[in-house]
Amino acid sequence: MKLIIDTDPGIDDAFALLYAHSHPDVEVNGITTIYGNVEVDVATRNALWLAEQLGLDVPVSRGAAKPLAIEKAPSPEAIHGACGFGPLPMRTPKAAAGALDAADFLIESCGAAPGEITILALGPLTNLATALKRDAGFAASVREVCIMGGALFCPGNVTSLAEANIFGDPHAAAAVYAAHWPIRSVGLDVTDSILVTSGQIIGLATSLGPLGPFFNTIASFYVDFYRRDRGVQGAALHDPAALISLLHPELFTFTRGKVLVDTDGPSIGRTRLERGSENTLCAVSCDTSALVKEFLQVCKRFSALAEPAKG
Ligand code: BDR
Ligand code: CA
Repeated sequence: MKLIIDTDPGIDDAFALLYAHSHPDVEVNGITTIYGNVEVDVATRNALWLAEQLGLDVPVSRGAAKPLAIEKAPSPEAIHGACGFGPLPMRTPKAAAGALDAADFLIESCGAAPGEITILALGPLTNLATALKRDAGFAASVREVCIMGGALFCPGNVTSLAEANIFGDPHAAAAVYAAHWPIRSVGLDVTDSILVTSGQIIGLATSLGPLGPFFNTIASFYVDFYRRDRGVQGAALHDPAALISLLHPELFTFTRGKVLVDTDGPSIGRTRLERGSENTLCAVSCDTSALVKEFLQVCKRFSALAEPAKG
């Protein structure tokens, strides 16, 4: 599966990149960045640095710095830390972002391989909405869009109704859900209960070689937030869950419909589902323990990638 990952790293974003790179059936064709968990310049540094550490040699394109039509919400420092990776200071990547901005990179890449590339959107949807606006042929060139976002039947995580990625840019989200392309939408309805524990992360970290301490440190920060804020033992694998829904749809139940997004008033950022034969598959339940197992198993393959080929 050819993927471009639109992301705001971000702790769970970092785990999604680790899983993507470790999965034998995923070919990451590029990373585009977006504000959200941190400002876009920090997200871009984090994406570049992480790609270098993972040995993921792909172009990274800087995306939008703010939403289409509203003020940018403050970054959630309590969840992801001041620089996106928990307590860690600002990262210093060796490489710089590519010359094309994220929207143009998406348009060019998908246009060059029509129907082949899936976009995995793990942050606010401004880059995707901008690409739709810039190029009338863009939607038709994309194989599928997989969105981590929304809260259809459960409370939000920014307001009582809205999930962070949709709340971040509700106008962009409304445009992306309204466009004519196949969408898979994985929101808090399922991701809130996909919890990975400290013990599981410690086990994973021991298999990640020199990157073990990094993933252990960021995960501990994230797990601590969930313990303090939600009173649960474990942290939600929001972004990895969206990616796993593409590779293992059998672990989820989906319902087909059309996602509507509230773009003003007190319910701004709320997602609602209009059922029917529409273009969006919404995840409504999942096998949480099988999903966590799948996540850990695939991430543990990373060490094999890092080892020089034998024989
Ligand atoms: C989403 O918001 C961000 O904080 C996470 O990285 C995830 O993409 C969860 O609501
Ligand atoms: Ca994210």
